Amino acid sequence: MDLLEYQARDLFERFGVPVLPGRTATSVQEAKEAYEMLGASTVVVKAQVRTGGRGKAGGVKLARSEEEVAQAAEQILGLDIKGHVVETVMISPGARIAEEYYFSILLDRAVGGFIAMCSREGGMEIEQLAEERPEALVRVGIDAVTGIDEAKAREIVEAAGFPERAADRLVVVFQRLWQAFKASDATLVEVNPLVATESGLVLALDGKVTLDDNAGIRHPEWAGYQATSGAVDLERQAREVGLQYVKLDGNVGVIGNGAGLVMSTLDVVAGAGLDLPGQPRPANFLDIGGGASAQVMANGLRIIMSDPQVKSVFVNVFGGITACNDVALGIVSALDMLGDEAKLPIVVRLDGNSVEIGKAILAERNHPMITVKSTMDEAARAAAKLASEGN
Ligand SMILES: Nc1ncnc2c1ncn2[C@@H]1O[C@H](COP(=O)(O)OP(=O)(O)O)[C@@H](O)[C@H]1O
Ligand SMILES: [Mg+2]
Repeated sequence: MDLLEYQARDLFERFGVPVLPGRTATSVQEAKEAYEMLGASTVVVKAQVRTGGRGKAGGVKLARSEEEVAQAAEQILGLDIKGHVVETVMISPGARIAEEYYFSILLDRAVGGFIAMCSREGGMEIEQLAEERPEALVRVGIDAVTGIDEAKAREIVEAAGFPERAADRLVVVFQRLWQAFKASDATLVEVNPLVATESGLVLALDGKVTLDDNAGIRHPEWAGYQATSGAVDLERQAREVGLQYVKLDGNVGVIGNGAGLVMSTLDVVAGAGLDLPGQPRPANFLDIGGGASAQVMANGLRIIMSDPQVKSVFVNVFGGITACNDVALGIVSALDMLGDEAKLPIVVRLDGNSVEIGKAILAERNHPMITVKSTMDEAARAAAKLASEGN
């Protein structure tokens, strides 16, 4: 789960990372009030969406008066930034920036450990820097037990060649960011830019934090975060009805039984879409497990179909203890239960226990939304094609 910038700001503050005050607003009127409360003459109005590149997309604006704040809020609220519509802005004092740095701590699954990444040249061009001069982006391994202590923080400062005048402050900030990372079970804490101000202070001006959802059980305080994310909403609805669902960003909905089968279905769908217009990709992971009753199937289809990105659905079931005839009946009755809600084409592939009876049930019903294919490859291709045409 990704936090919004203001939530990351609050988290940093709790761990003593220097940040600027920030007040959120969801209307122009609230933005003006926030400006009043902050009492700074120059402020920035910042879009609160879960994507980077807000600055370049017009989602970060400087304002020097109440009128300019109102104007900036008017322009930013409702703005679409890479598919994320801005519902909230944060107003913060304007910093006098001398230098912009980049710093992040992440879980690097390739090395099986934590690393810090940093650069003296942070800011909005960091992606370009990473591409053109990767050597300017330094990586330092972090021991999971000792973490970032003072010695490690100094090592990072030296590795990235941060200027001597900022060194002591950076050493403190890196240690506190590690504390925030560790205590909140994060997989990513990124500060870009981490700035040195004209007066020599070090401030975290932007924050991106990804929390490890698997640790949610020990963080009751995360409940407040969840209500504010679309993807997380679908995942929560799925959890409430007992389904294992993970939202991905493609447009072919996937339902299968058994985590292994669903994982390979994702791969096959991704492969099947490679040469098609728009490159359809899987929209989700959804394991309905054994015993796919009509109700479970209906719940799964409803959640997948309420993802606005989804254009087709692939139901891939291998009948084991739950025979294919039960699954086929489940699909048919699920469609009856959903009625008009079932508005997307569904490709079904059944195999295993009682497959012939299962197929006969689907053939007899002859539902206009259902296409039956015999193999996983054929079905994936058909679902990918439907998604490609549906876009
Ligand atoms: N409080 C602030 N005061 C002055 N400049 C800021 C402030 N916050 C952000 N900026 C500037 O705007 C740029 C983009 O803002 P940032 O929060 O990093 O958004 P994004 O990374 O999504 O583009 C920063 O690199 C910085 O130069
Ligand atoms: Mg940034």
